[in-house]
Amino acid sequence: MSRIEQLIDAMTLEEKLGQLTMTASSYAVTGPVIAGDSTDAIRSGAIGNLLNLVGAKAIHEVQRIAVEQSRLRIPLLVGLDIIHGHRTLFPIPLGETALFDPEAWALSAREASREGAADGIAMAFAPMLDVSRDPRWGRTAEGPGEDYWLAKRVAAAKVRGIQGPDLSAADSLAAVAKHFCAYAPVTAGREYASVDISERTLREVHLPAFAAAVEAGAVAIMPAFTDLAGIPMTANVALLRTCLRDELGFRGVLVSDYNAIAELIRHGVAEDLPEAAALALHAGVDIDMMSDAYRKGLPIALRRGRVLITDIDESVWRVLQLKERLGLFEDPYRRGATAESSAALGERRRIARDIATRAIVLFKNQADVLPLIPSPRRLAVIGPLADAAGEMAGPWALTGDPATYISVLAGLRNALPEAELLHAAGVAIESEDTSGIAAAVALCERAQAVLLCLGEAASMSGEAASRADPGLPGRQRALAEAVFERARGRNLRVIVVLFSGRPLMVSWLAEQADALLAAWFLGSETGNALADVLTGRASPSGRTPISWPRTVGQVPVFFGQRPSGRPFNAADHYTSKYLDTPNDPLYPFGFGLNYGRFRFTDLRVTPPIVEISDTIEAVVRVTNQGPREAEETVFLFTRDQFACVARPLLELKGFAKIRLRPGETGTVTIKVPAAELCFLGLDLKPLFEPGEVEILVGPNADRSQLQVASIQLRG
Ligand code: NOJ
Repeated sequence: MSRIEQLIDAMTLEEKLGQLTMTASSYAVTGPVIAGDSTDAIRSGAIGNLLNLVGAKAIHEVQRIAVEQSRLRIPLLVGLDIIHGHRTLFPIPLGETALFDPEAWALSAREASREGAADGIAMAFAPMLDVSRDPRWGRTAEGPGEDYWLAKRVAAAKVRGIQGPDLSAADSLAAVAKHFCAYAPVTAGREYASVDISERTLREVHLPAFAAAVEAGAVAIMPAFTDLAGIPMTANVALLRTCLRDELGFRGVLVSDYNAIAELIRHGVAEDLPEAAALALHAGVDIDMMSDAYRKGLPIALRRGRVLITDIDESVWRVLQLKERLGLFEDPYRRGATAESSAALGERRRIARDIATRAIVLFKNQADVLPLIPSPRRLAVIGPLADAAGEMAGPWALTGDPATYISVLAGLRNALPEAELLHAAGVAIESEDTSGIAAAVALCERAQAVLLCLGEAASMSGEAASRADPGLPGRQRALAEAVFERARGRNLRVIVVLFSGRPLMVSWLAEQADALLAAWFLGSETGNALADVLTGRASPSGRTPISWPRTVGQVPVFFGQRPSGRPFNAADHYTSKYLDTPNDPLYPFGFGLNYGRFRFTDLRVTPPIVEISDTIEAVVRVTNQGPREAEETVFLFTRDQFACVARPLLELKGFAKIRLRPGETGTVTIKVPAAELCFLGLDLKPLFEPGEVEILVGPNADRSQLQVASIQLRG
């Protein structure tokens, strides 16, 4: 008998349910349930997994109770939300996606895992793979943006980074891909609200990233809080068992979300806790996070005949197998055994700075106001986010130390020691108090340029942070208008840095600013990264992974929309449009300027006739006609104009980067396996349909900027 079989054979029901239970320590409660002291329960085998306990010493202490004092000596599994860093914070995932660099995505995840593992953690509740097309939804901040193909790439890179080459290694964590599935399209963007989308959208948009995570070897998955057409994910047999386990071949552990099993009662599908527990177990949820539904409910469900002991054993088996794969039986103290060197920490900060620098998206740069060369002698740094170190890490920074985050002001001080920085917040992020505006505006009198740092508070995105009207909160608009007015009077340039966990609807701001940068929340090194870009030490290279709507009424606006039978035509009233705003977003997917100026010519695509086993190769010439060296991201989209099912107006299938000096020309090659051009046919099965497909290559999803060539698919 294997170790796992022997253990299951020897276990009492209470011990089995303990292995299926995950309880929070009081370190950081992220939901409505507060756990008490768990040590007795660990000793008796009634709790087998913890979340939100941090620090090697603390974790080893409870681990010692489990492996030395509990009857079967089964090690604990300790998990934590390590979403975009642990002690060292990287940009929020939405911002990091803007790098379009799988190696960087994997690297930050690897570094975060190292740091988390050094703290004794064994499981990261990441990556978050929810494709979001609705900026009202605060969790857009945690995910990979609007596109499913991009989300697949992020999924694979993140799982690779989190789990490392050897899951049992002292610096590897179990990845928990979440939230399975289709959590983002909550009704009206309102957190935790119901979801109702078509089977096609589910399969085309929301499942692929999870399929990619499974393929990359993710050992755990977390079902979403939400329901899909009336069936909560936590109890969704069709999705968790038939789709995820049977179709996608997932063999790992399903960890419920926080209190999600108990919430099946309020969802209206279970009358009591035993029934909720039975439903979740039937769906194959292995670990009950924070509901205590399995411990309290399953014994009753067993007596009622609603579940079988073999169902419980199946889940226990999967949990023990995961602990085995993590090396916890071999050495439960491996993670956190040695502290990291200060050199490793220093190198991590360097990586965090580099990634933060490359996450910044430059939306506007009128008259090349950026970079600030020569650097101004007196710079006014105005706004509530200019000296707000604590906000810089964004919504998921449980374990970071705000004292180590670099604010914009601090970063500028580091970069421009000679310059005089004139600073005033003007207003607070959210308050109605305008009494500080006059003094802030007065700084414009002495300055040579103005940097205006505006945006959301970190807590305004992330979980439970939907916004019906995601603009600038509080009286920031009043501050900005006053600054613009004074600056215009003095012919001063105003550079706006925008912090947010989502696209903000700020067309008015974009119009008035001389330069506009999206800084998302860039993590520990925010200020240094921004200073690198502002001073020209680095050319900005981030590209937005989500369209920026002009107004909330356009939501959802995304590049992968399907065509209309009456596409917009200015000359025809009865075509698809708004009377009061254009159809296109303020900034399309993939948009982002740099300090070069790139031109695309001579797109060549081969072979002209393509079979499913072929690889399509697109080659395009790129010239930097700008004054500075810079890196350009090149996107490849496809467009299948006629198919048995209407295809989206654009589909992303590839991207690549090129760095060129002023005046330099290079070629970029993007290869796409033809099989990627399969789509789900009338029967929702993959189909490689013969016919013409356009290949479009260029700087972003604005079709007018793309070079086009055609190929023929042959079935
Ligand atoms: C609730 C969130 O939905 C999930 O993403 C997170 O991992 C858990 N809380 C644990 O903190």
